[in-house]
Amino acid sequence: MQSPFDVLGVDRDAGEDEIRRAYRQRAKETHPDQGGTRRQFRLVKAAYEELSAGGGRDWDEVAADEEGETLARTESVVEYLDYDAIVEQGWSLDDDDLFEKANRVRFDDATHGTFVVEGDDSVLEAAEDAGFDWPFSCRGGACANCAVAVVSGEMDVFHDHVLPEELTERGILLSCIGTPATSDMQVVFNVKDLPELEEHLLPPRPS
Ligand code: FES
Repeated sequence: MQSPFDVLGVDRDAGEDEIRRAYRQRAKETHPDQGGTRRQFRLVKAAYEELSAGGGRDWDEVAADEEGETLARTESVVEYLDYDAIVEQGWSLDDDDLFEKANRVRFDDATHGTFVVEGDDSVLEAAEDAGFDWPFSCRGGACANCAVAVVSGEMDVFHDHVLPEELTERGILLSCIGTPATSDMQVVFNVKDLPELEEHLLPPRPS
Protein backbone atom coordinates (compact mmCIF):
# COMPACT_ATOMS: atom_id res chain seq x y z
CA MET A 1 0.00 0.00 0.00
CA GLN A 2 1.23 3.50 -0.78
CA SER A 3 2.12 5.74 2.11
CA PRO A 4 0.80 9.33 2.21
CA PHE A 5 4.35 10.42 1.28
CA ASP A 6 4.17 8.27 -1.85
CA VAL A 7 0.76 9.64 -2.76
CA LEU A 8 2.01 13.24 -2.59
CA GLY A 9 5.42 12.35 -4.05
CA VAL A 10 7.46 13.83 -1.19
CA ASP A 11 10.31 12.49 0.95
CA ARG A 12 9.62 11.40 4.50
CA ASP A 13 11.57 14.39 5.86
CA ALA A 14 9.64 16.91 3.74
CA GLY A 15 8.72 20.12 5.54
CA GLU A 16 5.28 21.73 5.83
CA ASP A 17 5.76 24.07 2.85
CA GLU A 18 7.00 21.30 0.60
CA ILE A 19 4.06 19.11 1.56
CA ARG A 20 1.61 21.94 0.89
CA ARG A 21 3.17 22.64 -2.54
CA ALA A 22 3.10 18.95 -3.42
CA TYR A 23 -0.53 18.72 -2.34
CA ARG A 24 -1.56 21.66 -4.52
CA GLN A 25 0.25 20.15 -7.49
CA ARG A 26 -1.15 16.64 -7.01
CA ALA A 27 -4.64 18.01 -6.34
CA LYS A 28 -4.48 19.84 -9.69
CA GLU A 29 -3.22 16.75 -11.52
CA THR A 30 -5.83 14.42 -10.04
CA HIS A 31 -8.83 16.76 -10.07
CA PRO A 32 -11.71 15.27 -12.08
CA ASP A 33 -11.87 18.50 -14.12
CA GLN A 34 -8.28 17.82 -15.23
CA GLY A 35 -8.75 14.19 -16.19
CA GLY A 36 -8.20 12.65 -12.76
CA THR A 37 -10.70 10.52 -10.90
CA ARG A 38 -12.62 11.29 -7.75
CA ARG A 39 -10.86 8.45 -5.99
CA GLN A 40 -7.40 9.73 -6.90
CA PHE A 41 -8.39 13.21 -5.78
CA ARG A 42 -9.81 11.95 -2.49
CA LEU A 43 -6.69 9.91 -1.87
CA VAL A 44 -4.48 12.97 -2.40
CA LYS A 45 -6.70 14.97 -0.04
CA ALA A 46 -6.58 12.22 2.58
CA ALA A 47 -2.78 12.01 2.28
CA TYR A 48 -2.45 15.76 2.81
CA GLU A 49 -4.79 15.65 5.81
CA GLU A 50 -2.77 12.78 7.24
CA LEU A 51 0.55 14.56 6.89
CA SER A 52 -0.85 17.91 8.06
CA ALA A 53 -2.19 16.22 11.18
CA GLY A 54 1.27 14.86 11.87
CA GLY A 55 0.28 11.32 11.07
CA GLY A 56 -2.45 11.24 13.74
CA ARG A 57 -5.01 9.34 11.69
CA ASP A 58 -4.73 5.65 10.91
CA TRP A 59 -3.53 5.58 7.33
CA ASP A 60 -4.71 1.97 7.04
CA GLU A 61 -8.19 3.45 6.70
CA VAL A 62 -7.11 4.64 3.30
CA ALA A 63 -6.22 1.49 1.39
CA ALA A 64 -4.69 2.16 -1.99
CA ASP A 65 -4.12 -0.38 -4.71
CA GLU A 66 -0.96 -0.27 -6.83
CA GLU A 67 -2.41 2.50 -8.98
CA GLY A 68 -3.36 4.54 -5.96
CA GLU A 69 -7.00 4.60 -6.88
CA THR A 70 -8.96 2.55 -4.38
CA LEU A 71 -10.30 3.85 -1.10
CA ALA A 72 -11.17 1.46 1.71
CA ARG A 73 -14.78 2.64 1.62
CA THR A 74 -16.41 1.03 -1.39
CA GLU A 75 -20.03 1.46 -0.49
CA SER A 76 -22.29 3.71 1.45
CA VAL A 77 -25.90 3.29 2.55
CA VAL A 78 -28.09 6.28 1.75
CA GLU A 79 -31.44 6.80 3.45
CA TYR A 80 -33.54 9.17 1.35
CA LEU A 81 -36.74 11.15 1.80
CA ASP A 82 -38.66 13.15 -0.79
CA TYR A 83 -38.94 16.88 -0.01
CA ASP A 84 -42.53 16.82 -1.32
CA ALA A 85 -43.45 14.44 1.52
CA ILE A 86 -41.98 16.86 4.06
CA VAL A 87 -44.14 19.66 2.67
CA GLU A 88 -47.24 17.45 2.58
CA GLN A 89 -46.75 16.37 6.18
CA GLY A 90 -46.23 19.95 7.33
CA TRP A 91 -42.69 19.11 8.48
CA SER A 92 -39.58 21.25 8.04
CA LEU A 93 -36.19 20.47 6.56
CA ASP A 94 -34.74 21.76 9.84
CA ASP A 95 -36.62 19.25 12.02
CA ASP A 96 -34.07 17.27 14.03
CA ASP A 97 -36.20 14.13 13.98
CA LEU A 98 -37.11 14.21 10.30
CA PHE A 99 -36.06 10.64 9.52
CA GLU A 100 -37.45 9.27 12.79
CA LYS A 101 -40.81 10.76 11.82
CA ALA A 102 -40.47 9.39 8.29
CA ASN A 103 -39.85 5.93 9.71
CA ARG A 104 -43.18 6.11 11.55
CA VAL A 105 -45.09 6.81 8.32
CA ARG A 106 -45.68 4.17 5.65
CA PHE A 107 -44.30 6.00 2.63
CA ASP A 108 -43.90 4.22 -0.70
CA ASP A 109 -40.41 3.24 -1.85
CA ALA A 110 -40.10 6.21 -4.20
CA THR A 111 -40.61 8.56 -1.25
CA HIS A 112 -38.58 7.04 1.56
CA GLY A 113 -36.14 4.17 1.87
CA THR A 114 -32.50 3.26 1.41
CA PHE A 115 -30.14 2.34 -1.39
CA VAL A 116 -26.44 1.59 -1.63
CA VAL A 117 -23.92 3.77 -3.45
CA GLU A 118 -21.02 1.67 -4.72
CA GLY A 119 -17.48 2.70 -5.56
CA ASP A 120 -17.20 5.96 -7.41
CA ASP A 121 -20.88 6.37 -8.31
CA SER A 122 -22.60 9.66 -7.62
CA VAL A 123 -25.62 9.68 -5.32
CA LEU A 124 -27.83 10.53 -8.32
CA GLU A 125 -26.44 7.61 -10.36
CA ALA A 126 -27.01 5.22 -7.48
CA ALA A 127 -30.58 6.47 -7.02
CA GLU A 128 -31.22 5.89 -10.72
CA ASP A 129 -29.61 2.44 -10.59
CA ALA A 130 -32.01 1.66 -7.74
CA GLY A 131 -34.88 2.55 -10.09
CA PHE A 132 -35.70 6.05 -8.86
CA ASP A 133 -36.45 9.08 -10.94
CA TRP A 134 -34.76 11.95 -9.12
CA PRO A 135 -34.68 15.42 -10.72
CA PHE A 136 -31.65 16.58 -12.72
CA SER A 137 -30.76 18.66 -15.75
CA CYS A 138 -27.12 19.32 -16.69
CA ARG A 139 -25.52 16.41 -14.77
CA GLY A 140 -22.35 18.47 -14.60
CA GLY A 141 -22.45 20.87 -11.67
CA ALA A 142 -24.02 23.80 -13.53
CA CYS A 143 -27.55 23.91 -12.10
CA ALA A 144 -29.42 23.16 -8.89
CA ASN A 145 -31.97 20.68 -10.24
CA CYS A 146 -30.30 17.66 -8.64
CA ALA A 147 -29.72 19.31 -5.25
CA VAL A 148 -30.24 17.28 -2.09
CA ALA A 149 -30.12 18.29 1.55
CA VAL A 150 -27.60 16.18 3.44
CA VAL A 151 -29.15 15.67 6.88
CA SER A 152 -26.45 13.36 8.26
CA GLY A 153 -23.18 11.97 6.96
CA GLU A 154 -21.00 13.72 4.42
CA MET A 155 -20.86 14.03 0.66
CA ASP A 156 -17.85 15.05 -1.45
CA VAL A 157 -18.82 17.36 -4.30
CA PHE A 158 -16.51 18.29 -7.13
CA HIS A 159 -16.61 21.36 -9.37
CA ASP A 160 -19.86 22.86 -8.06
CA HIS A 161 -19.98 26.17 -9.95
CA VAL A 162 -23.45 27.07 -8.82
CA LEU A 163 -24.47 26.88 -5.20
CA PRO A 164 -23.45 29.73 -2.89
CA GLU A 165 -21.59 28.96 0.30
CA GLU A 166 -24.54 29.76 2.53
CA LEU A 167 -26.40 26.86 0.90
CA THR A 168 -23.54 24.35 0.84
CA GLU A 169 -22.88 25.12 4.51
CA ARG A 170 -26.48 24.10 5.19
CA GLY A 171 -25.79 20.78 3.47
CA ILE A 172 -27.56 21.64 0.20
CA LEU A 173 -25.35 19.83 -2.32
CA LEU A 174 -25.44 18.55 -5.89
CA SER A 175 -26.20 14.84 -6.12
CA CYS A 176 -25.08 14.40 -9.76
CA ILE A 177 -21.47 15.17 -8.83
CA GLY A 178 -21.61 14.15 -5.18
CA THR A 179 -20.23 10.91 -3.79
CA PRO A 180 -20.69 9.74 -0.21
CA ALA A 181 -17.75 10.44 2.07
CA THR A 182 -19.21 8.42 4.96
CA SER A 183 -20.54 4.89 5.15
CA ASP A 184 -24.05 6.15 5.98
CA MET A 185 -25.91 9.22 4.86
CA GLN A 186 -29.41 10.65 5.17
CA VAL A 187 -30.51 12.93 2.35
CA VAL A 188 -33.65 14.76 1.39
CA PHE A 189 -33.91 14.74 -2.40
CA ASN A 190 -36.04 16.90 -4.67
CA VAL A 191 -35.22 20.11 -2.79
CA LYS A 192 -35.15 22.03 -6.08
CA ASP A 193 -38.40 23.72 -5.06
CA LEU A 194 -36.75 25.55 -2.18
CA PRO A 195 -37.15 29.27 -3.02
CA GLU A 196 -33.40 29.91 -2.57
CA LEU A 197 -32.62 27.44 -5.39
CA GLU A 198 -35.05 28.86 -7.92
CA GLU A 199 -32.56 31.15 -9.67
CA HIS A 200 -30.14 28.23 -10.18
CA LEU A 201 -32.56 25.87 -11.93
CA LEU A 202 -32.40 24.82 -15.57
CA PRO A 203 -35.22 23.26 -17.61
CA PRO A 204 -35.33 19.55 -16.69
CA ARG A 205 -33.98 17.09 -19.21
CA PRO A 206 -35.80 13.88 -20.01
CA SER A 207 -34.20 10.84 -18.44
S1 FES B 1 -28.06 18.16 -12.70
FE1 FES B 1 -27.18 20.13 -12.90
S2 FES B 1 -25.75 20.16 -11.28
FE2 FES B 1 -26.63 18.20 -11.10
